[in-house]
Amino acid sequence: MTALARPPGLVSLVGAGPGDPELLTRRALDRLAAADLVLNDALVPDELVRLAPRARRFYVGKRAGRHSIDQDGIHKLMIRAARRGDRVVRLKCGDPFVFGRGGEEALALEEAGIPFEVVPGLSSAIAGPALAGIPVTHRGLASGFVVVSGHAEAAYAPILGSLAPGAATVVVLMGLGPRASIASYLIARGWDPATPAGVVLGASHAGAATWTGRLDALGAAAVDTGDAELPGLLVIGAVVGLAATLAPALAAATPAAATANS
Ligand SMILES: C[S@@+](CC[C@H](N)C(=O)[O-])C[C@H]1O[C@@H](n2cnc3c(N)ncnc32)[C@H](O)[C@@H]1O
Repeated sequence: MTALARPPGLVSLVGAGPGDPELLTRRALDRLAAADLVLNDALVPDELVRLAPRARRFYVGKRAGRHSIDQDGIHKLMIRAARRGDRVVRLKCGDPFVFGRGGEEALALEEAGIPFEVVPGLSSAIAGPALAGIPVTHRGLASGFVVVSGHAEAAYAPILGSLAPGAATVVVLMGLGPRASIASYLIARGWDPATPAGVVLGASHAGAATWTGRLDALGAAAVDTGDAELPGLLVIGAVVGLAATLAPALAAATPAAATANS
């Protein structure tokens, strides 16, 4: 290596957590501060991307109907930049390996011989219920929880179809739109229609809101995602009933963390 040669690049697959910069890890902050290039997803708020002041920033989000670049294009961008010697941060909401296609990106980088690392983030599957006052494994109410994608029945049926009714708390990401179908699916498989259910909208974002009610009312739950197009998740199980007690206390102590309406 000559004196002028740049060190080899590095790609950091970084979890941004649910949205609030205070919920980033210290390692995520370090990688953003040192980044030459940040590739960020739609659900990552701008204020997190601004934590990389010296980086070029490139939006590679894929929200319904707004595909800016395909997955292969993202791989090529990361690989090209790293080969130039850039420190690349691939910034994804929540945790990069939870429904974030981080695994595919890691495999592409490995195949290309690019040094890479994973910086885990706080998944919305855990942070969302917590901020809404829902302890997903409250002793005596649930001894486990499952996390599924609700985007299609084929995605959740293999798991929810094999789960005894009420046996675990169910957390559904990408399930806001199809929430009526998911509720009907569970009730048709023996879940009590009165099972507590909740929608957690925009956890840790401005305008966060929570709806709680019964499973058979989930489909008709009035959930306004507003202009900000806040992301939302579903929580189903007896533990959701605890939000009535815990959410007001949490909101009083940390007003930005949770807003509840039932
Ligand atoms: C493609 S998945 C990515 C999940 C992410 N990797 C994670 O670990 O949270 C996107 C889904 O995560 C959920 N989500 C992400 N951020 C959220 C937030 N702040 N509040 C509620 N749900 C959120 C929503 O269900 C959204 O549709």
